[in-house]
Amino acid sequence: MRTRTVTTKPFKDQKPGTSGLRKPVTIFQQSNYLENFIQSIFNSINISETSTLIVGGDGRYYNSQAIQIIIKIAAANSIKRILVGHKGIFSTPAISAAIRYHKAFGGIILSASHNPGGVNGDFGIKYNTEHGGPASEEITNNIFNCTKTINKYKILEAKDINLNYLGSCNLGTTKVEIIDSITPYVELMQQLFDFGRIHTLLASSNFRISIDSLNAVTGPYARTLFETCLGAPRGSVQNDIPLEDFGGKHPDPNLIHASSLVNNLFGLNSPDFGAASDGDGDRNMILGRNFFVTPSDSLAILTANAHLIPGYKDGVKGVARSMPTSQAVDRVAKKLGIECYETPTGWKFFNNLLNADKITLCGEESFGTGSNHIREKDGLWAILFWLNIIAITGKSVENIVYEHWKQYGRNFYSRHDYEEIELSKANDCMNQLRYTVKKIREKTAFNEYKITHADDFSYIDPIDKSISKQQGVRISFASGSRIIFRLSGTGTKGATFRVYLEKYQFDNTKIKLNTQHVLSPLIQLAEEIAHIKSFTELDKPTIIT
Ligand code: G1P
Ligand code: ZN
Repeated sequence: MRTRTVTTKPFKDQKPGTSGLRKPVTIFQQSNYLENFIQSIFNSINISETSTLIVGGDGRYYNSQAIQIIIKIAAANSIKRILVGHKGIFSTPAISAAIRYHKAFGGIILSASHNPGGVNGDFGIKYNTEHGGPASEEITNNIFNCTKTINKYKILEAKDINLNYLGSCNLGTTKVEIIDSITPYVELMQQLFDFGRIHTLLASSNFRISIDSLNAVTGPYARTLFETCLGAPRGSVQNDIPLEDFGGKHPDPNLIHASSLVNNLFGLNSPDFGAASDGDGDRNMILGRNFFVTPSDSLAILTANAHLIPGYKDGVKGVARSMPTSQAVDRVAKKLGIECYETPTGWKFFNNLLNADKITLCGEESFGTGSNHIREKDGLWAILFWLNIIAITGKSVENIVYEHWKQYGRNFYSRHDYEEIELSKANDCMNQLRYTVKKIREKTAFNEYKITHADDFSYIDPIDKSISKQQGVRISFASGSRIIFRLSGTGTKGATFRVYLEKYQFDNTKIKLNTQHVLSPLIQLAEEIAHIKSFTELDKPTIIT
């Protein structure tokens, strides 16, 4: 087999965002676009003699074509062993687990996560390193720098590999193996959770679950876990076949996009437990009967109950949350006497803390929760964690949450997103806010709200001391309330302006109030501070979660 060196020219827009390089499929289909990025990954890392690389994706449109190209470029770049998920399917958490299990130097994940797929949808590439987590900013900056000067890439001239059969073949000096990407992940879950107790719960006719895979990657994993291993009746997992366009749906597990699950859980004779995962399986949404658990509360509740779970029975070393995530988990950490770290948005910021064994659990308000078992957030793991707590305590989702609020108080929380706004206006708004926040700092109060802190969040990584600046404008008030403003780093159309609102309430008689109602004074204040309507030219948020 011959290695061909192809002359190419740089593309200017290959800077990875919050979670890898994400663009419309049509951008990735441009000649040499994918090839340039993949070669830039290999140009920016050292490849050893015994190198193993894991490759797979969420099954969205262009997944298989991209895998064939990646395999051939990897082989031309002397990667010794490439492990590819059967049919090209590999959830993000399962790739993270596989990198760690096979001691691979890294993995290439093909996904645009919760963004829509299909010919007119999005595609994405993320490079994960030897610990199994997303590459650090230093590495992604190196990759980006390589994309700016690349003038050639190497590719092996070979036939496509059949991804539908388990087995291996040689491509030049490279061994390519098509592997079962589901069983090892299921086995890892069996090590962490009490499958016996969860089986008893799910096989009983008194407890019904509804798991919605949203036609995305978790379908086959969820079916194996909940129906085959844990005894839930057939049909408990819905939309379980990964489709290239996710059936036209937006594979984002929130109250808006997982609407059929939400209708089911909030309807008559609804199941006791509902959950959904996103396109690549790292996000989760947890629902009880007529009840929604915010991801921030979920992190706090998992931390408070971790001692009940076999994999965490020895206790939680520390926890971390992204800066905009509510402070509910901080209160649990305080009670447990453990450290709670506040990191910028994006899972990669948890990984140094996980690798240094400083934290056991971590999470983000954006429906992401995870632990030290891998280096990605993990949707199905979070669902199993909840089911394990329910199986042991015998309580409903709603009661678990109410009891938690009664003990710790409630952090009312909501995120308001303004999508597809003009990039220049979004940047103007953030610049204006950076200026305003300096002025705010000089005051002690804004209207009747006493200000305790106001800044543009800057983070010094406690382990490698790297600095990440401009991670979101935040204003904290004496009552424990906060307003945070930042721009999304994952969108592909215009800009998305995010406003995060949080209000703490300890009074037990007020913990059942309506979230948007409780937050309305803060919503007004956010408008006063940021002039959101005029900058975004939108009257109201496009999405409220
Ligand atoms: C969003 C979420 C963030 C998450 C990321 C990847 O990023 O807000 O918490 O880590 O997706 O799933 P954003 O678009 O806000 O930059
Ligand atoms: Zn995702």
